[in-house]
Amino acid sequence: MTLNEIAKKMCAKGKGILAADESTGTIAKRFKSINVENLEKNRLIFRQTLFNAGSMKDCIGGVILFDETIKQKTTLGPTIPELISKHGAIPGIKVDMGTTQLAGRPQETITQGLDGLRERLKEYYDLGARFAKWRAVVEISHPDQYVGTTPTIGGIKANTHALGRYAALCQEAGIVPIVEPEVLMGGYHNIDRCQEVTEITLNSLFTELYEQGVKLEGIILKPNMIVAGKKCAQQPSREEIAERTLKVLKNTVPAAVPGIAFLSGGQNNEEATRNLDMMNKIGGFPWKLTYSYGRALQQSALFAWKGQESNYKLAQEAFSHRAKMNSLASTGEWSQDLDES
Ligand code: 13P
Repeated sequence: MTLNEIAKKMCAKGKGILAADESTGTIAKRFKSINVENLEKNRLIFRQTLFNAGSMKDCIGGVILFDETIKQKTTLGPTIPELISKHGAIPGIKVDMGTTQLAGRPQETITQGLDGLRERLKEYYDLGARFAKWRAVVEISHPDQYVGTTPTIGGIKANTHALGRYAALCQEAGIVPIVEPEVLMGGYHNIDRCQEVTEITLNSLFTELYEQGVKLEGIILKPNMIVAGKKCAQQPSREEIAERTLKVLKNTVPAAVPGIAFLSGGQNNEEATRNLDMMNKIGGFPWKLTYSYGRALQQSALFAWKGQESNYKLAQEAFSHRAKMNSLASTGEWSQDLDES
C-alpha cells in the first residue's frame, strides 16, 4: 500500500484511531484509578481485551501501540499486530521518547527521540507497523503571567521542526506519520488564546513539513480542538468549539492532507464525541475529520474491567459503545439519545 492508501484506510468512513500507546508510566496512573497493579501481564490483558472487542472491525482503522505492546504475543496465540490486522485495522507505533525541558526556554518542553529513529522505524516496520505517532506539547501559561509567558515562537519552532524531521524519516521508511502538536487544555486561558496558539502552531508545522519534503497526502494530523482551558470560567458551546476549530483548520491545513484525527486531551467522553459530531454536521471541508482518542475511548472500559477476568465482556461492551458513538460522530450521525440508549 502507498502512504496515501494507508492514511485513507486508517480514516475510512466511520472509522477512527484507537490511541492505546500509553507509556508504562502513564498507564500506571490509569491502573491506579482502578486499583490494578501495573504489571506487564495486566497491560497485555487489558489491551488485548479492547483489541478483540466487537466494534474493532467497523469503528477502528488503526491502533497506536507502545514499544512493549507491539512486541507482545496475546495469550491466545497471535502477536498483538496480528490480532489488530485480523480485525482490519492497521497497527501503529508511538516513536517519540517523551518530553524534556527545552534548553534556553526552561518553561517549555521539547519532544525527544530523533537519534536512532531511522533504525527504530525499520525495526517497527518489520514488526508490522505501518504508521507512527510523535506528540509535541505546547502549554499555554496563566493569562495573568507576564514574565515567562508560554508558548514562545522559539519553543513552537523547535517542536514543529522535530515533527518535520520525524515525519520525513517515517515516510522514508514506508510509514505514515501521525503528526501531533498538542496545545494542552489544562489551565485558565480562554478559547481566544487557544485559537491563537493553535493557529500559530499549525502554521509553523506545515511550513516545516513543506521545508523538509514531507508528502502531505501521506500524513495524518492529530490536533487538539479549539476549546477554553479547563479552569476558564467561560466555557464555550459545542457550536463555538466546532466553528472555531474548523476555522483554524481551514486557515492552516492544506487540502492534500487526507485525514485529521483529533486527540481527546482531557475532554470527557461525551464532549469528545459531541464536538466531533458537531463539526461533521457542519461539514464543508476537504479532509476526513475523525478521532484518535485515548482516554475518551478507553476510560469507561477501564472502569468496567477493574482488573477482573469476569468483567472481560463488560469492558468490551463499554469500549464498543464509545467506539460506535465516535464512529457515528465521524459522519455527523451521533445523537444524545443514541448515546444514552
Ligand atoms: P487522549 O485522547 O487521551 O488525549 O490521547 C490521545 C493521544 O494519543 C495523546 O498523545
